[in-house]
Amino acid sequence: MAFYRQLGSIPPKRHTQHRDENGDLYFEELMGEEGFSSDSSLLYHREIPAAIVDATVWELRDHSTTPNHPLKPRHLKLPDLFPQEIWAETDVVTGRRLILGNADVRLSYVVSAKESPLYRNSTGDELVYIESGTARVETVFGTLDARAGDYVLIPRAATHRWLPQGEEPVRAYVIEGNGHIVPPKRFLSRFGQLLENAPFCERDLHGPAETLQYEGTDVEVLVKHRGSTGIVGTRYVYATHPFDVVGWDGCLYPYTFNIEDYEPITGRVHQPPPAHQVFEGENFVICNFVPRKVDYHPLAIPVPYYHSNVDSDEIMFYCGGDYEARKGSGIGQGSISVHPSGHAHGPQPGAYGRSIGAEFFDELAVMVDTFKPLELGEGALACEDAAYAWSWAGRGPAS
Ligand SMILES: [Fe+2]
Repeated sequence: MAFYRQLGSIPPKRHTQHRDENGDLYFEELMGEEGFSSDSSLLYHREIPAAIVDATVWELRDHSTTPNHPLKPRHLKLPDLFPQEIWAETDVVTGRRLILGNADVRLSYVVSAKESPLYRNSTGDELVYIESGTARVETVFGTLDARAGDYVLIPRAATHRWLPQGEEPVRAYVIEGNGHIVPPKRFLSRFGQLLENAPFCERDLHGPAETLQYEGTDVEVLVKHRGSTGIVGTRYVYATHPFDVVGWDGCLYPYTFNIEDYEPITGRVHQPPPAHQVFEGENFVICNFVPRKVDYHPLAIPVPYYHSNVDSDEIMFYCGGDYEARKGSGIGQGSISVHPSGHAHGPQPGAYGRSIGAEFFDELAVMVDTFKPLELGEGALACEDAAYAWSWAGRGPAS
């Protein structure tokens, strides 16, 4: 994200001496993408950020996947995975359950009321959408306050932890890239500024407000990383607490963006999903459908036409409002629909004609389109509504 910020205490010149009030040197760390050839930040630590004293295997939760075979559109009822009695023992990092995944991206879901361990994902950026609840996200760059509707972008390898706040649990939809997740290139100037025709701007992106100073020794950090057999985990013990940064500056840092700040693009006739794009990763895009005025041609049909996205699997997470095109399908708050490449999809019966004359859709959904097929995680297999595949025909398989 090429948008410069600075926070806390930094020296006037990079790569020069920076000392505390006793004259002791701070330790400079460059955190940068694509070798030393893309966005980066410089962080100033009280202690040496490389100082580990132990490393053991962290066994990850089940990351296995099952092909979508026979090929079916699917409805997954994510809230069923997290009954209230387990919220207090579930944290956002170790409690998330894998819903869908491929070599480019993993989609998980969690309902949590418990502090997470310190954690770092070195497989890629994480984009965590907060369906409901509030959380304090403590990071090596400082603190973010997250609320319902926030996308929380945590860059690859940024140490952080999730602290749910208040009475409600945090319901989080986690998009883990195997690379970086950024605003669409077509929204950016050649130097990286969000353009005038982008649906959001830099004022809508909220970085850390304050740096964090924790004392501590022998501090555990869970690291998710790439292994020869896929995604694996390691438990590091650091000599001192990793949240010891007195200041940083640069263009690489965590931030939040709230979906309410997304200004929808509308038209006389139906606008295709790319008009609703918000982020992109490597071999996937993220779009959001927000409350908006709908198509105003006198003969418009406001819900989508039937469509075969021949190159994409399309995953919708329904996170608010009343989604017009899916009425009658059983889909509700917290549901996911999987509309795979190879299957034409569109509105459920009745919705097509019923939408004529509508002026406003009160709907909220986050869509991930992948350019390679997704497989089903253990979470998907545990919460599927098997009747959904037949919902356009109104009856089950022929006997
Ligand atoms: Fe679609």
